[in-house]
Amino acid sequence: MTFDRNVKIAPSILAADFADFGSECRRITEAGADWVHVDVMDGHFVPAISFGAQTARAIRPHVKGVMDVHLMIAPVDAYLQGFIDAGADVITIHAEAGPHAHRSLQAIRAAGVKAGIALNPGTGLDQLPWLLDAVDLVLVMSVNPGFGGQAFIPEVLPKIAAVREMIGDRPIHIEVDGGVTADNARAVRGAGADVLVAGSAVFRGGPAAYAGNIAAIRAAAG
Ligand code: DX5
Ligand code: ZN
Repeated sequence: MTFDRNVKIAPSILAADFADFGSECRRITEAGADWVHVDVMDGHFVPAISFGAQTARAIRPHVKGVMDVHLMIAPVDAYLQGFIDAGADVITIHAEAGPHAHRSLQAIRAAGVKAGIALNPGTGLDQLPWLLDAVDLVLVMSVNPGFGGQAFIPEVLPKIAAVREMIGDRPIHIEVDGGVTADNARAVRGAGADVLVAGSAVFRGGPAAYAGNIAAIRAAAG
């Protein structure tokens, strides 16, 4: 996985057909997706349960590009190895996922996987300077995690810009997740994001619409 700051569209399979993940992953890749975003929810840290490492492992052969795993799990440490073994390229944990976020990030990297830290809309940036040398990606949540299809919280835009400023010239991706559409992609990109996650905005309209939906977000991001 090479680093760049070009726009990358990462459809969230949370909005895909759960009975047909393999086909859905292939369709979005053919439709122009750069990364595939895999949302794992534990029914504890967030209200819903989505799926676990066995599903991620089953999806892996159908993902041609980057498999980007977002773990909404707390405590997360006991589950990291399962997603490492499943073939994740990036594993992102939440800042609240345990008492030692830095140690969890080290464990991900020690396995040769890129490590990300996710910040909820209400989570501050005070710890971030001390985590920057341990991460490859900062995920700025633009909704409260737990469900797809929520409205983008515009107050996160200055937060994205603040993260971009803190990162400086370090090779760290900024990913924005939640309510991203063609309507706000320009502002999200302008604030400094390079990875745009989109669930509903990619999958709405069914397979025939995926390529157009992805192209619209990419064009808006510029
Ligand atoms: C929220 C998830 C997101 C979200 C994206 O808990 O992490 O990835 O489902 O879906 P949309 O784009 O529909 O908000
Ligand atoms: Zn996500």
